[in-house]
Amino acid sequence: MIILGIETSCDETAAAVVRDGREILSNVVVSQIDIFAEYGGVIPEVAARSHLEAILPVIDKALADASCSWDDIDAIAVTHAPGLLGSLLIGTLAARTLAILHEKPLYAVHHLKSHVYANWLKSDVQDAVPTFPLIAMVISGGHTQILYMTRHNEFQIIGTTRDDAIGECFDKVAKILGLPYPGGPAIAKAAMGEMPDGVRVTAGNPDKYHLPRPQVDGLDFSFSGLKTAVLRAVQKELQLPISHPSHDLKNHLSLEQVADFAASFQKTAVMILAEKLKKALQMHPEVQSVVFAGGVSANQALREGFPEAYFPEPRFSGDNGAMVAAAAYYEIISGVLPTDPYALNIYPRIEIGAA
Ligand code: KG4
Ligand code: ZN
Repeated sequence: MIILGIETSCDETAAAVVRDGREILSNVVVSQIDIFAEYGGVIPEVAARSHLEAILPVIDKALADASCSWDDIDAIAVTHAPGLLGSLLIGTLAARTLAILHEKPLYAVHHLKSHVYANWLKSDVQDAVPTFPLIAMVISGGHTQILYMTRHNEFQIIGTTRDDAIGECFDKVAKILGLPYPGGPAIAKAAMGEMPDGVRVTAGNPDKYHLPRPQVDGLDFSFSGLKTAVLRAVQKELQLPISHPSHDLKNHLSLEQVADFAASFQKTAVMILAEKLKKALQMHPEVQSVVFAGGVSANQALREGFPEAYFPEPRFSGDNGAMVAAAAYYEIISGVLPTDPYALNIYPRIEIGAA
């Protein structure tokens, strides 16, 4: 079964062709990072407009790269929830129109489900697939959840963030430190001493600054406290009052301090995930595999901290169309029926399993 997957939930316009949920025939991702780096974050209206310009060329290229014509495509899959309203609209409208035009079954996929299924895509480094029951740590710019799965296409949310997502926390801490958007990769590099514009310093010391870990009961997370902890630690290090504006702190930090803060923050974030995962595994000792998913799962320090876990190939950690096609494939073999292209709706905010 050959599925065309389309993803436009945030600031990546992506399409891919995947065979039987695992074999990548093509994967095209047009990122809007360059646009939003200038603003320090995503502007929803600009993202939607960029998706509109890119979506058809991206889909055409995905088909061409896979050497597929429309006759070869068995189904179309698209992200319909959650995400930015205008962004979701462009992808779903394109998918609905193409499904009607080419008479293809249409599958609407939840974005977090797609991130999880990135772990089933065949990668150069790992050929094994996760086995059930499993725990999925979904860590992205918009979400932080622990999911429990006993079989394909069945998700139980056992932990969630009460405030910010972990990726959002990376992005906000990066801003305090004067690092560019998106903050996750910038912090990972700064921790290794790789500063913007090719400047190099000694790798950061992850034990330099002690950042208190938020105390949240059970399997839930809180990341807004960690962001504030970094803010206070920077103010303290610079001997500035807590009233000192956060956007000015970067002008007082040395590159060595930035590297140390990046490394210390990254280590704390990984420790928070490790603590919660340990708790989740204690509650579910029957679990066979642990999978990480979402943009933050590209983080190298994180990967090194969990050698037993499954990670997507780094290029499939962030948003892409291949994971959407993979998720749809496992929906189909689980008995999910196609959706009506004339009626498909988008849901900017909805939990996995609810749509
Ligand atoms: O999954 P994703 O591409 O989009 C959402 O669904 O939200 O995740 C984007 C998030 C951003 O917050 C970005 O800073 C973070 O993933 N990210 C990383 C790394 N690469 C991307 N965070 C930490 N380390 C990385 N290497
Ligand atoms: Zn995502």
